[in-house]
Amino acid sequence: MAQILDGKAHADRMLSVVKQAVEARTGAGQRPPCLAVVLVGEDPASQVYVRGKVKACAETGVRSLEHRLAPASTQEQVDALIDRLNADPSVDGILVQLPLPRGLDSKRALHRIAPAKDVDGFHPMNQGLLLGGLPGLRPCTPSAVMNMLKAYGVPMKGIRAVVLGRSEIVGKPMALMLLEEHATVTIAHSRTVDLPSVCREADLLVAAVGRPGFIEGSWIKPGAVVVDVGINRVEDPALAARIFEHEPKKLETLKNKGSVLCGDVRFGEAMEVAGAVTPVPGGVGPLTIAGLMMNTLQACEGRD
Ligand code: GUN
Repeated sequence: MAQILDGKAHADRMLSVVKQAVEARTGAGQRPPCLAVVLVGEDPASQVYVRGKVKACAETGVRSLEHRLAPASTQEQVDALIDRLNADPSVDGILVQLPLPRGLDSKRALHRIAPAKDVDGFHPMNQGLLLGGLPGLRPCTPSAVMNMLKAYGVPMKGIRAVVLGRSEIVGKPMALMLLEEHATVTIAHSRTVDLPSVCREADLLVAAVGRPGFIEGSWIKPGAVVVDVGINRVEDPALAARIFEHEPKKLETLKNKGSVLCGDVRFGEAMEVAGAVTPVPGGVGPLTIAGLMMNTLQACEGRD
């Protein structure tokens, strides 16, 4: 049986590091870091994510400001709010929750955030710093995953790493961070020919494709470390029967609640082949928020 990489426990450790640093600041008479979260519209999933981020701020002593804009807001209204937060010296970090309602240009909004306050690490300036191997604000999910893998002592130098997914939020920055640690990195995606064979080469497999149970146990190299970034809600009993063949508990949750959360990897199958696996939920999800708190602290300290 594979080891379970407990993302929740590691996220709690990261949060306590942030909390201690915030206490040290306030104890020395400095202000706590401040994160401004911008939520445009009423997307239910985004509301849940924003609530989680505000809660993590409260737990770590970070000040949070919630700015809600109506679903019918114009790009100019979003721009004006970002400009105001950029100019506000009491704000260290700005996060615009994605996706934005239809009709709004996310890239235009993200590119308007001052790079020094870009706690998501999505601004081209911060992307460029990462590409150049220079310090800057880095995307929360991959940086927190790296933090956890290092804490677990997962070797990276010289290994074969496969990142499945090429998003700017996870896939591309994850690949760059693994490269920085001297892994031999392949970015695979929906157009990759013979994906199972590519995955089977991986000593470290990072799955970020957003498709429930896409990665089968037979795609995993025996002993590999598997990081599952996907968080998918499954409601279809036929799909569930296929992907949860080795996970009776998931099938039971689906029966009782009408839906169940799962990753991109068939966890039950992976547990039989891999050396270590992150679960869903309780794996990468909590790490992302911990990464955001780390970035908010970093942005604050960078502005002192
Ligand atoms: N929506 C889904 N993931 C993210 C993220 O990492 N940052 C922001 N701002 N919005 C998201």
